[in-house]
Amino acid sequence: MPDNTAARSTASTFPSGPDAKAVPEPFTLVIFGASGDLAHRKLLPAVFGLWQDGLLPPQFSLLGYARSPTGDDEFRRGAADAVAKFTHGRTVDPKTLEAFASRLHYAVGGYDDLACFQAIRRRLEDEAAREHRPPNTLFYLATPPEAFGPVVRRLGESGLSRRGAAAAPWSRVVIEKPFGSDLASARTLNGKVRAAFKEHQVFRIDHYLGKETVQNILVLRFANSIFEPLWNYKYVDHVQITVAESGGVEQRGPYYDRAGAVRDIMQNHMMQLVCLVAMESPLSLAADSVRDEKVKVLRALRPIPAVCGPEGVIRAQYAAGEVRGKQVQGYLREPGVAPDSTAETYAAMRVFIDNWRWSGVPFYLRTGKRMAARVTEIAVRFKPIPQVLFGAPGRSPVEPNTLAMRIQPNEGITLRFQVKVPGPAMQIEPFQMDFGYAEVFERAAPEAYERLLLDAAHGDPTLFARGDEIEAAWTFIQPLLDGIKQCLVQRLPQYPAGSWGPKEADALMEVDGRRWMLVRRPTGTR
Ligand code: BG6
Repeated sequence: MPDNTAARSTASTFPSGPDAKAVPEPFTLVIFGASGDLAHRKLLPAVFGLWQDGLLPPQFSLLGYARSPTGDDEFRRGAADAVAKFTHGRTVDPKTLEAFASRLHYAVGGYDDLACFQAIRRRLEDEAAREHRPPNTLFYLATPPEAFGPVVRRLGESGLSRRGAAAAPWSRVVIEKPFGSDLASARTLNGKVRAAFKEHQVFRIDHYLGKETVQNILVLRFANSIFEPLWNYKYVDHVQITVAESGGVEQRGPYYDRAGAVRDIMQNHMMQLVCLVAMESPLSLAADSVRDEKVKVLRALRPIPAVCGPEGVIRAQYAAGEVRGKQVQGYLREPGVAPDSTAETYAAMRVFIDNWRWSGVPFYLRTGKRMAARVTEIAVRFKPIPQVLFGAPGRSPVEPNTLAMRIQPNEGITLRFQVKVPGPAMQIEPFQMDFGYAEVFERAAPEAYERLLLDAAHGDPTLFARGDEIEAAWTFIQPLLDGIKQCLVQRLPQYPAGSWGPKEADALMEVDGRRWMLVRRPTGTR
């Protein structure tokens, strides 16, 4: 293991984000949709992780709210099971879990029923009064998206939203994705949210922003002096962003069939990655400085024509195939998917950012389900050198440098550069210098949801999307959706499950004289 102790002992702490040991003020987390999949798989294990690490105050409490008629005991048992099953990378201490479960409660009710919301309000205020603390509340919307509008409206009408409150008792709302299904619905939802809350109370989640390696993009770019001078159209040839998943749609067929890859991944996670790679240095790490710069990138994206075909977005669906040695069925046979569906499980496109820094530099984006491996990587490909010295006739041209940021798995950074092979001949080969988080830092990166929940409890929205940011991302995506609507295709191009996508996406690169690449290549892939 490399000895990095000296380097780490001088580590600096940024003024943004909670102090590693800071515990938020006592508050209640109210989870709407508490009986659902997201609550069980992600939220309850994340809240427990924070509790076990001592990052929540002893008076913290959690109120699960959903339509299913369940009591406190049953909810606690279900939560304990979920924590045991879905906690990864840490040991669950049974005594701590018992103490945690005793802080959980459940309320049954509808998402559009004012009387139920008024009852929650009384309940929260009584509990806070008993414990001699202000009724600070963090609401988490983990319901089906149709319920987001009604829930925020009722939070406003019942007074639970405490619109504008900046100090205790505070009230904040975390809204899950999808935030709208197109530009118009995102605007409508923003309108409803703003009627009940002020922007500083609203935390629109994109869990990619909670990933350590995503946050590290800013550190790599702005805490080092050697990259920034090269980070522009003069030296960068192009940028590739790959978000590949080996999993299929699993139990989410009905949702996914309405969404497709453009809405599910491109509009949110990929746009965030584009912003972080392309943005200018913010004035400070304050939430609005960072978000202002991201919005500028989104506004500078060159509009994609609303046409059906490769000038818009390349779309495809996975067919049956083999993923990691297992036969899997095609998308059209997945449960909850229409047998004649034209929802894309793969999407690729070329985008340009029409500002000074990125003038003429293509950003190639691709995402897909049931691909050969699960990998998220950003590769910055630099311009080729003049071939006058080493590119003699008969020799292949010297490969340009690439800097790759591996977001997951095997998180790390790789620089690919040329070295001379020892020996009498001037033989040049590319070499990779790898930095892997797991090898350097002994502790595992915290779960994205843990970081995000803690930030929301501290009132820090830096890692959440602002209302105008969401709308700017939808503004860019909307013509793509319009183009897709015009496509009267009976069947989308197919790619075998376990491959790297359709040939149409390779052709997108080939016409530009380029090809898709993965620098930190997962084993067993081509
Ligand atoms: C979600 C999408 O936002 O992100 C899923 O809805 C996708 O379809 C998931 O599988 C990927 O997240 P991660 O953290 O597993 O890369």
